[in-house]
Amino acid sequence: MSTTPIAIIGGTGFYRFLDEGEDHHIDTPYGSPSAPIRIGEVAGQRVAFLPRHGRNHDFLPSEVPFKANLWALREAGVRQVIAFNSVGSLQSEYRKGEFVLVDQFVDRTHGRDASYFTGSDIAHVSAAEPYCERMRNLAEEALQDADIRIHRTGTVVVIQGPRFSTTAESRWFSQQGWHLVNMTQYPEVILARELEMCYANLSYITDYDVAAKEVVGDAEEAVSHAAVIKAFSSDSELIYGAIQRLVKALPDEDCQCRSALANARG
Ligand code: ADE
Repeated sequence: MSTTPIAIIGGTGFYRFLDEGEDHHIDTPYGSPSAPIRIGEVAGQRVAFLPRHGRNHDFLPSEVPFKANLWALREAGVRQVIAFNSVGSLQSEYRKGEFVLVDQFVDRTHGRDASYFTGSDIAHVSAAEPYCERMRNLAEEALQDADIRIHRTGTVVVIQGPRFSTTAESRWFSQQGWHLVNMTQYPEVILARELEMCYANLSYITDYDVAAKEVVGDAEEAVSHAAVIKAFSSDSELIYGAIQRLVKALPDEDCQCRSALANARG
């Protein structure tokens, strides 16, 4: 397989892309990825697509084979990952229908297999800036030019799921100043770093989580899985358009993410 420098990981509602592409079944030391990797073209560039939850939403958030997914993408020659997520808003100024280039996460998951390093193979990667700064800057420029409503920063709290948050949890997250809530951004971002891949997150706000809904009012629908899928589907053209712009705007350049392990070992 020739190399495919860029990959898109789809989130809830985003299960299919690259209709003209070809499927590649890649096995890994960590098992099979969530789905075959579809390789096709966007704007004349080879692109790989992998739906994180499988093509039929087959995996719960805590059961997504994150290690197999990232490993398989690297096997396909991927060097830059655009990870897409549907997220809930925790702050009224992060509005439904807006995009966010997430720059920080808070991990509230448990029991997930979150590292390739085990036993005597030890490395500790830096997570101070977990998302690729170079990709975020280029992505911001590309999306702003298209008049897409975008926040250049945002902190996401990653919950274990599969349930949504209680009112008490959501208020607490919001009071901490965290902006977004989601179930799958961790450990994907850190596994990409351990594989020295550039990784940026494009989140799309599909709903107001409980605490933000208390501020924006009753006219907004409460979060549910069906509401998240409905919001994604009704805005899918906008989302695909944003992703195409990103693919065009991200040259395969050298980056500090590609030496993430240089200082990670003793
Ligand atoms: N994904 C999309 N919206 C969400 C929410 N409100 N909570 C957790 N995950 C989500």
